Amino acid sequence: MDTPWWRDAVVYEVYVRSFADASGDGVGDLPGVRERLPYLKDLGVDAIWLTPFYRSPMADGGYDVADYRDVDPLFGTLAEFEALVADAHAHGLRVIVDIVPNHSSDRHPWFQEALRGQGRERYLFRDRPNNWQSTFSGPAWTQVADGQWYLHLFAPGQPDLNWRNPEVHAEFLDILRFWLDRGVDGFRIDVAMGLYKAEGLPDVKDQSFKAVSPVWGQPEVHEVYRNWREVLDSYPGERMAVGEVWTDRADDLALYVRPDELHQSFNFAWLQAPWSPTGFKQVIIDTLATVPFATWVLSNHDVVRHRTRYDTADPGTGLMRAKAALLTMLALPGSAYLYQGEELGLPEVKNLPPEARQDPVFFQSKGELPGRDGCRVPLPWTPDGPSLGFSPGDTLPWLPQPDDFPAFNAETQAGDPESTLAFYRRALSTRRDLLRSLPYHLEWLDSPEGALFFTRGPLICAINCGPAPVDLPPHARVILSTAPLPDGTLPPDTATWLHAE
Ligand code: NOJ
Repeated sequence: MDTPWWRDAVVYEVYVRSFADASGDGVGDLPGVRERLPYLKDLGVDAIWLTPFYRSPMADGGYDVADYRDVDPLFGTLAEFEALVADAHAHGLRVIVDIVPNHSSDRHPWFQEALRGQGRERYLFRDRPNNWQSTFSGPAWTQVADGQWYLHLFAPGQPDLNWRNPEVHAEFLDILRFWLDRGVDGFRIDVAMGLYKAEGLPDVKDQSFKAVSPVWGQPEVHEVYRNWREVLDSYPGERMAVGEVWTDRADDLALYVRPDELHQSFNFAWLQAPWSPTGFKQVIIDTLATVPFATWVLSNHDVVRHRTRYDTADPGTGLMRAKAALLTMLALPGSAYLYQGEELGLPEVKNLPPEARQDPVFFQSKGELPGRDGCRVPLPWTPDGPSLGFSPGDTLPWLPQPDDFPAFNAETQAGDPESTLAFYRRALSTRRDLLRSLPYHLEWLDSPEGALFFTRGPLICAINCGPAPVDLPPHARVILSTAPLPDGTLPPDTATWLHAE
């Protein structure tokens, strides 16, 4: 039997608001994504993951859903969504949509009803708050007019749903079917380790996002995913689900991907690994030992772009390391998730003016935390124009693009064989060609100080995280490198794929 598509897929995250604007209002939209499908096809990805495009007052960029079965006018219409799916499929691209089950918007009809005093058992209303804090800073409770409080682990506009209420289960099963019926290939599950809170909502000492605690990771959540798996399996065409599970333990992550639960879960340990051969190796070992089908990710719309995370005092280092980490990730067994703009080598935008910022994290922390806008700045498509081709006409994008953005534009990079975009295209097409001959497992090779070497069938991957060049392992030929390999050596901050002897 053929391997299901998602096991080794490269999935490209489209943060819809910031990808491409077709309507000309400065905000990215579904027709904008549709127009750029040829770009994604040429890039060589297998699937796209669309961040939420549902009706929303946008208290958290759309992760506050007011109607789970409709498209927000800012992003288009349901008919435009259907046209996008049809076109994506015609281009050979699968489509994953985001599902947000931990909380709804405060404008959702259920919450509006709750404010009027009815159906409060669909949310977590209490007479007195406990000591829980919002992930975005500040208390996790807001008081309503009659004196009761409701729980929101994120913004006040994102009230947490009560998964101990069977009505909530039925509603989400129906929402899954609604989008499956419209041809989606899978779901990305927002805050997948949330949903259930410990009975009695006890006070906590440590509320880290990663801890298994009364706040996160309650065992009851697994029953939800067993039910969802049954629905997914009842549809033809290998429909899948990938969970956003933040946990600091690989064995805890493994619980979410048992054979009758989710197909995949993001492997944030890879994204958090330090720039060192031992750091990378440990994550690879732990991952392959604990989950049946690995995933790898370096960036997404919630974290500082990896190019910037890898920066040192030397300005060229961040991009070199970013490419080397990517090549290493693409050599690993399993599937890889990319975040829009990394193929252009985009850095985090650190100097957004306070008045431009939109992320609730910035406001809830009273400006103490910068928030996540810096990785969400609209993409530069062309070298010129008021929005660098993001919007048509003279419209300015919803977040300002910094002065150095023209240098990263996709059009110029597409014509330059030395560009980051050209490198991504080469890496993805080479990976696709190699894939059939690669076994799922890997073997470690003896590596010099500072470097990490491993093989997968005929492929050797070598990365040098150290300060000095190292000798390459014996090989028949070089397949691809992130930088030139002078005299058979691998320079610092460089990775290469070699064909075994
Ligand atoms: C995770 C999403 O990726 C993030 O952007 C959002 O703010 C929270 N979940 C809350 O929905």
